[in-house]
Amino acid sequence: MARPEPGLTLVGGGRMGSALAGGWIKSGYEGPIAVFAPRPSDLVRSWENDGKIRLNPDSATASTLVIAVKPQIFPKILDELRTLVGPNTLVLSVMAGITLSSLADKLGTKRVARAMPNTPGLVGEGMTLLCLPEDAEDDDAAYLRELLTPLGAVEGPLGENQLSAATAISGCGPAYAFLLAEVMAAAGEARGLPRDLALRLAQKTVQGAGALMMESEDPPSTLRENVTSPGGVTKAALDVLMREGAMPSLMKEAVDAAIKRDRELSGD
Ligand SMILES: NC(=O)c1ccc[n+]([C@@H]2O[C@H](COP(=O)([O-])OP(=O)(O)OC[C@H]3O[C@@H](n4cnc5c(N)ncnc54)[C@H](OP(=O)(O)O)[C@@H]3O)[C@@H](O)[C@H]2O)c1
Repeated sequence: MARPEPGLTLVGGGRMGSALAGGWIKSGYEGPIAVFAPRPSDLVRSWENDGKIRLNPDSATASTLVIAVKPQIFPKILDELRTLVGPNTLVLSVMAGITLSSLADKLGTKRVARAMPNTPGLVGEGMTLLCLPEDAEDDDAAYLRELLTPLGAVEGPLGENQLSAATAISGCGPAYAFLLAEVMAAAGEARGLPRDLALRLAQKTVQGAGALMMESEDPPSTLRENVTSPGGVTKAALDVLMREGAMPSLMKEAVDAAIKRDRELSGD
């Protein structure tokens, strides 16, 4: 199947939609991009002024339709969306919790896909999960991976049965990392460091550890062991964090709770 362009259409010009469209524009995407946004931001308007997008044009069948509105808006704009979907339209939803079968039923096409981005995608450092039906074309998967690269790394296609667990790691994961920085800073402050200093130390340490982890060929467990001398200071701290019932088992419990909630919200 030929690469589905031109006719790329984006519905929703909020944070995710803008991160995607901004990336497509930056990478010199050739085809015209239609953007539907009822209250476009200054950024979205500036793209229109520069001739990079067509803002709220007359509805026309999209070759690729990217839906980046909140899930609760989706049922309210179904009629508008259906006017954009033709027999060959490839639909990509970044809406959390709306299943492939629901997308297919409501939009009247089987050519649907889901992506689950995360917030670091807003600065191009995201981890986006791509999920397609089992019988999807390889070309569609490759094209959608490319389309999602403005957000950062892309994993998949994953089966939809893996999506809840994967979401509990990379979708929710930024919050776990922010919590880590938050509680590290609070612990430093509790032990006498000025609040701002404690926060700077925690933020840079989480960021630096992440950068080292991505540069290194070693897994995180080895990197952890590398900073843990027997009988040393780090070892004293890790003995607390890794004792029975502490961080490793708490993380499993947290991930289980996230999976359960994701399944409830998806109606599984
Ligand atoms: N942000 C994340 O990290 C993240 C992570 C995973 C998944 N997602 C998913 O990404 C989707 C978008 O999230 P977001 O963070 O970008 O939300 P957002 O910033 O609130 O953007 C949603 C956009 O949809 C627009 N919208 C509302 N009604 C519309 C309509 N009838 N036609 C076209 N656009 C309409 C809103 O416009 P107005 O402001 O004018 O109402 C808003 O700009 C959500 O479904 C969310 O589940 C986001």
